[in-house]
Amino acid sequence: MRHLLSTKSLSRVEAITLLDIAEDMADVANREVKKLPTLRGKTVVNLFFEDSTRTRISFEAAAKRLSADVINFSAKGSSVSKGESLKDTAQTLAAMGADGVVIRHPASGAPQVLAGSGWIDAGIINAGDGTHEHPTQALLDAFTIRRRLHGTASRGRGLDGVTVTIVGDILHSRVARSNLWLLDTLGAHVTFIAPPTLVPADTSAWPATIGYDLDAAIDAGPDVVMMLRIQAERMNAAFFPNSREYSRRWGLDDERFSRLSSHSIVMHPGPMNRGLEISSAAADSDRSTVREQVANGVSVRMAALYLLLSGDREDS
Ligand code: ASP
Ligand code: CP
Repeated sequence: MRHLLSTKSLSRVEAITLLDIAEDMADVANREVKKLPTLRGKTVVNLFFEDSTRTRISFEAAAKRLSADVINFSAKGSSVSKGESLKDTAQTLAAMGADGVVIRHPASGAPQVLAGSGWIDAGIINAGDGTHEHPTQALLDAFTIRRRLHGTASRGRGLDGVTVTIVGDILHSRVARSNLWLLDTLGAHVTFIAPPTLVPADTSAWPATIGYDLDAAIDAGPDVVMMLRIQAERMNAAFFPNSREYSRRWGLDDERFSRLSSHSIVMHPGPMNRGLEISSAAADSDRSTVREQVANGVSVRMAALYLLLSGDREDS
């Protein structure tokens, strides 16, 4: 694998291979010495043009556990604020010998531009681009679901027949898009629940059921309920009357949480806005995978870095 830009372009075999390697990486995390020498001598640059807590930290931890050198670059405090372009920034990183670049950018498509530009000969990983995709988030979500369902017998399996209901700001969510493609590839069935104003006008090409009624979706007893944050930073208009109204109709509050089927798990990519899209009781319960998702994120990102940067990089 040369770059990891989207889940839409991942085959089932590629996705399961990555999840299986992540299982091996998770085994390493349980050892006393958590480090592997695999990427010794390689340099990974975390290039973040947008805020991040989990993704940036877990890519740093992943690269370090594989013994790579890590350079953290955030646009705030860099020469980007002096008007430097993505091209010049990329060429600066190339001059410093970056082997892998993990990029988060507010513009959809920025990682693709970097990968196809010729400005830098590095493996590019998309860590979230605008409203487009966030592939490692979807991979860590799939990894988490697979582990909850199959435990240590997860290796080699997809998510055939698993029902996943994703709730919230579908219009602006790159997490929703990456999950849609990956879950579909792995054999799961996706339902999106959102206010009508937060669903794209044309979803005919999406392998998903679209609905607007969270209560009905909960009563259907899905295996997974994934709550999404309202992407206020990507909104230039009012998409719902106010946050209380949103929470009343589309929030996983205590009452809805208590009605969830006993086997359902609750997911959230973070950051959470407690009391808005999810209640604290739901977020902190045994059925919530929020903290597991973060821990699994390190294993999944180790797998991605390993696949892209170890050995001779091939064009595929
Ligand atoms: N952290 C995720 C993202 O960057 C989800 C969110 O911010 O709501 O897409
Ligand atoms: N889930 C996620 O991407 O979190 P951050 O925005 O904190 O990286």
